[in-house]
Amino acid sequence: MKIILTCIAAVCVLASAAEKSVAAIPGSPEQIIPVPMRIEMKEGVFSLPEADAPYYIKGETKDALADYMEQSGLELSPAGKASEADILISIGPKELKGAAIQGHADEAYLLEIAPRQIKVKAGTETGAFYAVQTLLQMTGNGQTRQLQCCRISDAPRFGYRGLHFDVSRHFRSKEFLMKQMDAMALVKLNRMHLHLTDGAGWRIEIEKYPRLTEFAAWRPYEKWTDWAADPVYCEYDDPDASGGYYTKDDIRKILEYARSRHIEVIPEIEMPGHSEEVMAAYPELSCSGEPYRNSDFCPGKEETFTFLENVLTEVMELFPSEYVHIGGDEASKSGWKTCPDCKRRMQEEGLEDVDELQSYLIHRIEEFVNSKGKKIIGWDEILQGGLAPNATVMSWRGPEGGIKALKSGHDVIMTPSEFCYLDYTQDAPFKEPESIGGYVPLAKTYSYEPAEKGLTEEEISHLLGVQCNLWSEYITQDSHAEYMYYPRAFAIAETGWSPAEKKDYAGFRERALALCDMLQEMGYRTFDLKTEYGDRKESLRPLEHLAKGCKVTYDIRYTDQYPAGGDSALTDGICGGWTYGDRKWQGFFSDADVTVDLGSVQPVHYVGATFMNVAGAWVHIPRKMEVYVSEDGVDFSHVGTVYQDISEKHNFIFFKQYSVICDLKARYVRIHAQRAARPGACLFLDELVVN
Ligand code: ACM
Ligand code: ZN
Repeated sequence: MKIILTCIAAVCVLASAAEKSVAAIPGSPEQIIPVPMRIEMKEGVFSLPEADAPYYIKGETKDALADYMEQSGLELSPAGKASEADILISIGPKELKGAAIQGHADEAYLLEIAPRQIKVKAGTETGAFYAVQTLLQMTGNGQTRQLQCCRISDAPRFGYRGLHFDVSRHFRSKEFLMKQMDAMALVKLNRMHLHLTDGAGWRIEIEKYPRLTEFAAWRPYEKWTDWAADPVYCEYDDPDASGGYYTKDDIRKILEYARSRHIEVIPEIEMPGHSEEVMAAYPELSCSGEPYRNSDFCPGKEETFTFLENVLTEVMELFPSEYVHIGGDEASKSGWKTCPDCKRRMQEEGLEDVDELQSYLIHRIEEFVNSKGKKIIGWDEILQGGLAPNATVMSWRGPEGGIKALKSGHDVIMTPSEFCYLDYTQDAPFKEPESIGGYVPLAKTYSYEPAEKGLTEEEISHLLGVQCNLWSEYITQDSHAEYMYYPRAFAIAETGWSPAEKKDYAGFRERALALCDMLQEMGYRTFDLKTEYGDRKESLRPLEHLAKGCKVTYDIRYTDQYPAGGDSALTDGICGGWTYGDRKWQGFFSDADVTVDLGSVQPVHYVGATFMNVAGAWVHIPRKMEVYVSEDGVDFSHVGTVYQDISEKHNFIFFKQYSVICDLKARYVRIHAQRAARPGACLFLDELVVN
């Protein structure tokens, strides 16, 4: 009994020592995301009191910063004078003189933590706000009251650091947006791009066009996937109505919150495509004049311009942002070719094709927006048919559109889908929620470098910054959206803010783990980085087999869109990862018919290929795969047929190996994979394996 008691006492002593040492570890500047420009470590620790830590602000400031500081996790209250403050903030144009801070000075700050006081210096209130964000991270949202002494000089690399919210596919409350602004501010993201209109629902009150919010904002299906199978709208008071919109008052509240978090909200009003909901509510704006026939505005009709200008006028009156995003992506332009109004417009304006007709619309809208003292941003399709003179390009289909725009002197925001699309799954699809597909793990987002080699300094001066996008087709719940944003939003924040040479994935991942814990404590749901599975194991090391390095000939060739490594891809030993877009999977918009030459007659015991299935993307396993062999390359004999034994309609991503076991001799091995019966079905395989 005595021994047990002694042991318990010893455990208690050890436990309290452990608690003490944990509590005594001061908040360190080495945990901050985005990594600051310069950190100088100093001797000592500063201790904040548990509550009511006094702060004092010297210089020009609005009440918003003081309000923010008092409401924040730092538990601050105003001091009577500067000398009594634990945190002394000085704001003014001369405060950063001599501080040798490169980057965007209007967001720069200096943070000095000494044993007796914390000093913040900034040229602007925004800089001071970011110093407070750094303190919030160092203290774990105010939980850690001890801070390692240090001096941080910090400023962003890019002025535009954005996060995109698709509130059309699934509507989100204003409270959700405000909560995300807190997380954005914490990692110094400063632009919220609101995708307010799309086929799935119109989301902003426009007084001149009430049908947009009585009808186009509502649908009889809550989930986008159900709605997409039957894309209709309903009246707002229909018992099945699902959806919603922001009133002007809601928008004002969102904007007020954004202002206090130093975030600019950029509204997006889609045109000319992705506009099914407008065409259903106001069919006279479409080429056919009928609801449910066209997805695009008709640029031949003057009514289209009257509508767009009226809508934009109300939007611009509401949002103080210097930019309006006018969409411009993925217009089908299909009705334009035969529409008499569009044909007349093209003739009158001397436009060669429908691309130039789209460019005509964007030019006219740009002129209107510019006339109100604002600028347009458009997705990179606005390059088609000629770019409007003052437009900023948001490059999403890769960096190429952005590079082209930079080279012609235009401003650019980079958001290439391969790195920046957060709707793509971030881990192994078998353990993740249903998604649109793709594979963008944290490391991939982090690896993005927007200033491509070969650009001149002048060209790079037009690179405004970076953004991550979350399209929400598959994201019904707020918590799922947060799961998709964090921690990948931290990665784009660091790319947008920190000097490129300071980036380091291993260190970032450690910091991201800690920041995920902090966000979870603050009530956010984040992806569980600790249990990340990673890429498909087969893709991580080369596969050895008899046909590796052997010549392949194609009776039916792969598509140029997905060549992987070209003619050698199927015998290069490289297997694909979780997405057919990773340049390791070879794609066929047809059957696949492929022959490999082993170089000499050899014993053959196994012939196989793995196919990918992503039903939502028309990527299907084959109906069957035939295997043939030959010794001379002329006479082939049939070895076997492998039939599809799982439905290709399953709505999850899976991989299926088709293989035959045999015992024969051959020099040539041929497979013919027959694609699924669904129109548009394609095949993707990564390797033709022979053993
Ligand atoms: C886009 O993803 N369609 C901009
Ligand atoms: Zn038309």
